[in-house]
Amino acid sequence: MRIDILTILPELLDSPLNHSIIKRAQQKGIAEIFVHNIRNYTNYKHRQVDDYAFSGGAGMVLMIEPIDNLITHLKKEREYDEIIYTSPDGELYSQSLANSLSLKNNLMILCGHYKGIDHRIREHLITMEISIGDYVLTGGELAAAIIADSVIRVIPGAISDEQSALTDSFQDGLLAPPVYTRPAEYKGWKAPDILLSGNTKEIEKWLHEQSVERTKKLRPGLI
Ligand code: ADE
Repeated sequence: MRIDILTILPELLDSPLNHSIIKRAQQKGIAEIFVHNIRNYTNYKHRQVDDYAFSGGAGMVLMIEPIDNLITHLKKEREYDEIIYTSPDGELYSQSLANSLSLKNNLMILCGHYKGIDHRIREHLITMEISIGDYVLTGGELAAAIIADSVIRVIPGAISDEQSALTDSFQDGLLAPPVYTRPAEYKGWKAPDILLSGNTKEIEKWLHEQSVERTKKLRPGLI
């Protein structure tokens, strides 16, 4: 899978996508992430990419031309399955959306901007809008990082034990069960005996019961 991220703040994406599982997935060739600076595609003086809104008011709006230049340039190289815009107006992001995006070959993510982007970009160039939650971020970069991370980690091979992405919270509509490791007892706080019993069948049963119980208690809406 290839993900192209379009932003006016590429520095914001350096760190989140260059560590741990996502870094290793790129090294293994499972995923490629390219971050593009929209400013490199403007024909305006002083690398200008935003301007005042026709409707007035404070805050600048990202202009259509640099973004169209960049999208057109990328589309010449390959076909994109989705051109995503990150915005609080978009479809609420979920594990099932991450799973379905992970089956695509080429994704483009245009990072939103605090005041907005010229609406014609959304009308003519964007194929999908995604919100990561009902709150407002200063820009779409963190949302783009969340989308890229959650999509890449479910691609088979990204996580060494393939099972482990499938047993995540939400994958079966349930929250994940609690996990414990050594020491079995710390300050008198004991890990559940069942997990130390070695009885795999009983452990599996217990884990499922815990998932159901936690989901009922913490996220009843998921049941
Ligand atoms: N940009 C600003 N807020 C956002 C949100 N909640 N989701 C996605 N992109 C955003």
